[in-house]
Amino acid sequence: MDLKDHIRSIPDFPKPGILFYDISTLLAHADAWQVTMGRMAKAARAHQPDVIAGIESRGFLVAAPLALKLGCGFIMVRKKGKLPGATIKHTYDLEYGSDTVEIQEGAVEPGQRVILVDDLLATGGTFAASIELLRKVGAEVCAAACLIELAFLKGRERVDVPLHSLVSYDE
Ligand code: PRP
Ligand code: MG
Repeated sequence: MDLKDHIRSIPDFPKPGILFYDISTLLAHADAWQVTMGRMAKAARAHQPDVIAGIESRGFLVAAPLALKLGCGFIMVRKKGKLPGATIKHTYDLEYGSDTVEIQEGAVEPGQRVILVDDLLATGGTFAASIELLRKVGAEVCAAACLIELAFLKGRERVDVPLHSLVSYDE
C-alpha cells in the first residue's frame, strides 16, 4: 500500500506558499491506519525500546498507539506550561524567537531506551530539541520515528539518532 494515497496535501496552509501534508485522511481510513502502525511498529521494535515518547500534539496520535502495540509505556513531550507538577524544560532557538519543550520529572528513568515519535519531520528543530530534553534526564534515545519526512528541508541532518520515516516528500 502506498500511504501517500491517504495523505492529503493542502496548499497555502497555514500560510500562503506552504503545502500542508494532512494526516487526517490517513487516520480516518481503518486499513491504511492499520498498515501505517504496523510499519511503525516493525521499525521501532528493532531498537528494543522501554518507552515511547510522543511530541505534542500530532505526535501523540502516532506515539500512543505505537506504545500500545509494542507493550511499552508512553510519555509526553509537551509545549510549555501544559504539564502539572515538577518538570524539566529545554528552550531552543527558532528563526524568530524561541520555544520550549517540557517533560515531567520522573517520566523516564536514567538509562531507559526511548524512541521519540512525531507525525512529521520538517526542519528537525522539534526532534533535535526533544532529544536534548530526553538526554537531560538521562534517557538513552535509541531512535526517532515519524510518518512524514519533508526531505527537501534536510531536517534529518539535525537528528543524531537512527531516524525512520514512512513516507518522504522531495518538494
Ligand atoms: C509540526 C509537526 C512537527 C513539527 C515539525 O508541529 O507536527 O511536530 O511541526 O517541524 P520541525 O521539524 O520544523 O520542527 P506543530 O508545531 O505545527 O504543532 P502540532 O503538532 O501541535 O500541530
Ligand atoms: Mg507537531
